[in-house]
Parts: sequence; structure tokens; C-alpha cells
Amino acid sequence: MKLPEKLNILLLGSGGREHAIAAAICRSPRLEKLYIAPGNAGTAELGENIDVDADNFGALKKIVLDKQIGMVVVGPELPLVHGIVDFFREDDMLAHLPIIGPSASGANLEGSKDFAKAFMMRNNIPTAAYATFTRDNIEEGYRFIETLSAPYVLKADGLAAGKGVVILDNEAEAKAELARMLGGKFGSAGSRVVIEEYLSGIECSVFVATDGRNYVILPEAKDYKRIGEGDTGLNTGGMGAVSPVPFADAEFMQKVEERIVAPTVAGLAAEQIDYRGFIFVGLMNVAGDPYVIEYNVRMGDPETEVVMPRIESDVIDLFEAMYMGKVDGYELRISEKSAVTVMCVSAGYPESYQKGFKIEGLESACAEGSVLFHAGTAQKGDDVVTAGGRVICATSMAPTMQEALAKSYETVGRLSYEGIYFRRDIGRDLEKYL
Ligand code: AMP
Ligand code: GLY
Repeated sequence: MKLPEKLNILLLGSGGREHAIAAAICRSPRLEKLYIAPGNAGTAELGENIDVDADNFGALKKIVLDKQIGMVVVGPELPLVHGIVDFFREDDMLAHLPIIGPSASGANLEGSKDFAKAFMMRNNIPTAAYATFTRDNIEEGYRFIETLSAPYVLKADGLAAGKGVVILDNEAEAKAELARMLGGKFGSAGSRVVIEEYLSGIECSVFVATDGRNYVILPEAKDYKRIGEGDTGLNTGGMGAVSPVPFADAEFMQKVEERIVAPTVAGLAAEQIDYRGFIFVGLMNVAGDPYVIEYNVRMGDPETEVVMPRIESDVIDLFEAMYMGKVDGYELRISEKSAVTVMCVSAGYPESYQKGFKIEGLESACAEGSVLFHAGTAQKGDDVVTAGGRVICATSMAPTMQEALAKSYETVGRLSYEGIYFRRDIGRDLEKYL
């Protein structure tokens, strides 16, 4: 079986990640028409936005049938964890439609930290030592904390909108936090809590495209999670990213492939988990050795905004290979250039913020070699207005990271809206590795 040469594609999601995936899809001559549900003001320039939530399976089915969609690409984790792939496969009218993303059992790698840790143990994948506790054995949890040394890492088992990891410096606080988490601080996501050993090192993210048996490793990236410069303040969805990551040299990446990527995909195959999607491996480089901090079952945001622009080969061919079990025959071509992105956010983010401010300067902002990816934006009459915490990012490519950064800072410097904020130190921690 082969897919038709030209396809209508439905892309699910509404962030900068989806705008970057949309741009990559649009570079393919195989695209007939792109639909995005629900999309944002940026994706509206590349295809047709449809105002349906990415988690509304029934409404998505109707769109697929009405618009003669030939392939669905899932951006965010929520529909995957909620079983959108299984929903499609089990529906008579949708069963043969290529959908890019793991089944719900595969999505458990992100949906349940306890599942992910147990999977890593079964498959001998390096990760922090851990134990999982519920309300029934909270006393054992306290005893386990006493066996660890500071800092203490506590993770709500389920999806908690990126807020479910708490790192504390002293034992009494860790015990109190365990009680709060098991007491419902994160709702049902915290009914089980993983407590794990603290890993000290520098983080990076590795992205894998797999058909469940074969894989290709996409460019790695590093994101900047904290709101403040010098990695201070609250955690955010991500304030910027760079790719490649200077410390992730060939030797390190070989360890990542041998110790993590190959056994992860082999484990999925051995456990007969239907996984035709992306694996995002969050890693800690501990003195040159990679350890898994977490799996995500989708691309990262804003990492995708630097990974996708570096992919020169056809992404529709890649999606087809993932769906058809032919990733081993896919020839990935990657730009040697450095890509960086700088995210502009709303004042107050990641806490409460206002929306609806007009974004000025969009038409003439881009320095040569830069593009804008919209994250939280909306069209309001003739204006594009802010519509989220993370608003818009400037991705640039250049022979060096510093040149790319200069372009992105030039571009974001030409944008304005009330309360615009971005970090000015993206990539700075990596200069020592260049
Ligand atoms: P996560 O939500 O799993 O990405 O975790 C959020 C952040 O917590 C990670 O990006 C790390 O910076 C940090 N983190 C998670 N687990 C550990 C660990 N075992 N040791 C050190 N830092 C960790
Ligand atoms: N930037 C981190 C994430 O997408 O989860």
C-alpha cells in the first residue's frame, strides 16, 4: 500500500510548535491543502484554521470526512493521552487514515511518570533511581525520602500542565509536599507520586521519529524553561531554544542512541505498543553520560521551532514512513546551520496575564534569515492580537549560533505589544562549549 502523492492534511494544535510543523508541511510538494484545528493567526497564513478543539474527537471525525483529509498529524499530548489514535483506528470510517502519533498505551510514556519509569527499568534505560507512592503507603514515602539526600524531586504521576514536578531543598519540605500532592494538589494527576534521585548536569532534548520498530534521530535541541535570565524564576513552557546543542557532540549522541533511543524503540516493539509518532527524550548530561529525565510523546515547544527549520528532507514523506513502518528507508537531511528561537511572552506569564493586545511590527519585523512562529495569537478584525502566555517567537538560522541569535534579537526588537517580554540570554550558557 502506498499513500496518494498529494494529500490534504489536518494538523491538530494551536501553538508555535504547530506553526513550525505547518511551515515544514507547506515546504512539501505533496501537500494539497493544509487544515489546522484550531490553529492560530500564524497558521491561518499557511492553511485553513478550523475552530475545533484538538481534543474533540467527534468533531474532528466530521472534519476528516468533510474535507477529505488524507493524513492527520497530532501536535499536543492531550489528545494522544486521551486516545485519539485508538479512536481513529477503531472507527470503521477512519481506520485506514494515517494518523501520526502513538496509541494511548504508547502515550502513557508521557501520561504516567510511573509507567515511564517502569518502562525504563524493564528496558535498562539509564534514569534516576525512583519509587512510586500513593495515599495508602505515604509513610513508606516519608521513609524513602529519608534515604535520599537533597535536593528532592517529586513528580505527580499524571499530566499536570507542566507543573507537576517539584524540587525541594530540605527533607521536611519534601515530606510536606508529598502529603500535599497525594492530598490532591494536582487533582487526580497526583494520586500517585514518583520520588526520584536528583540528577546534576545540563539538559538537552533529543527527538526521535519512529514507526515503532525503526527510528531516525532528528536534530537535538536545548530549551530555556525558566522565565528569568540566568535560569531563574518560575518554570514556563519554554522561553527559547537552540539546535544543534554544542555539548551534544558525536560521542554523546552515540551514547544517547545506544543507551536510550535504540532500547526505547526496541522496548516499544517488544511490548507490542503501537507507536507511530515522535518521542521526545528529555535528557540530563551527567558528566558526559545521558540519563532520561522524562519522555514526551510529541515534539517539544519551542524546540520544534528550531528542529523543523533544520529538516531539509520532505516531512510528508517522513510522516508516511512513520505510518507505513518504513522509517528505515527514509533519508533524513539536516541543515548544518544553527537555528535559534526567542519567545516573546505576555507580562505576568507564567502566572496570570492579560490577552487581546495588538501586536505591532509584524509585517516588517523579520531580519534576513528569520521567521516568526505564532504561539498565542489571534486575528481580530485587521489586527493580530495576543491570545496566550507565550505569544510569538523569532526563529533564525545562520552558520553560527551567535549570528542566528543576533538575527532573532533584531527581529523581536522590532515587535511590540503591551507588556512584551523575552529573555536576552538564550544560548549564553552554551558559549563555553563552542
Ligand atoms: P519535567 O516536567 O519532567 O520536564 O521536569 C521539569 C524539570 O525538572 C526538568 O526539566 C528538570 O529541569 C527538572 N528535573 C526533573 N527530574 C529531575 C531529576 N531527577 N533531577 C534533576 N532535575 C530534574
Ligand atoms: N519545551 C518543553 C516541552 O515541550 O515540553
